[in-house]
Amino acid sequence: MKALQIILAIFILALASSSAFASDPSPLQDFCVADPKGSVSVDGSVCKGAKLAQADDFFFSGLHIRKNTSNSVGSAVTPVNFAQIPGLNTLGISMVRIDYAPKGGLNPPHTHPRATEILVVTEGTLHVGFVTSNPDNRLITKVLYPGDAFVFPEGLIHFQYNIGNSHAVAFAGLNSQNPGVITIANAVFGSKPSINANILAKAFNLDAKMVNDIRSSF
Ligand SMILES: *[C@@H]1O[C@H](CO)[C@@H](O)[C@H](O)[C@H]1NC(C)=O
Repeated sequence: MKALQIILAIFILALASSSAFASDPSPLQDFCVADPKGSVSVDGSVCKGAKLAQADDFFFSGLHIRKNTSNSVGSAVTPVNFAQIPGLNTLGISMVRIDYAPKGGLNPPHTHPRATEILVVTEGTLHVGFVTSNPDNRLITKVLYPGDAFVFPEGLIHFQYNIGNSHAVAFAGLNSQNPGVITIANAVFGSKPSINANILAKAFNLDAKMVNDIRSSF
């Protein structure tokens, strides 16, 4: 009985400590406006003096602008993270606007290594989904309409696909000042320098010629 209680206590402690590291670390001061010219390397950016902070350090304009989606995937992202708003430095949050071309605009399968995402559709109709980790690799999907929100858990591969006849728009919040993006196809087939074709052939069950054909488009 005693051993069971100890195991239970360790389990609860482990749960508590893992949830404490579920997003960027909490700030120890009101804010730390990023100083892009700071030369010291820290986990984030060096702060400029608190008294030098201005309203514009916490401001971004442009989320009303529809981006050009005439590209190979038919989507365009407007990022709003600490690179655009230096006042987001250390605050563990950021956002994006995503535009999707009619009939097939795709935000291709990708992951954010440092953030969970919550996405809300404001225009159009999106088929969205994510895949769970090994061993299940279960695909979880939903069709979203304006006003609908959907969550992509941290690190999992996800996508959004415009299945409507009109332009689509979504906004998303992410719990990191710098969520990062790994677009699966680009990382695997478009790395610089290239991953050895035999490695990709084996991993994707292709022959090396097919690997080279796929690579040539990235
Ligand atoms: C959108 O981008 C494409 C490809 O770069 C270009 O040909 C087109 O003129 C652009 N459209 C607008 C409205 O800027």
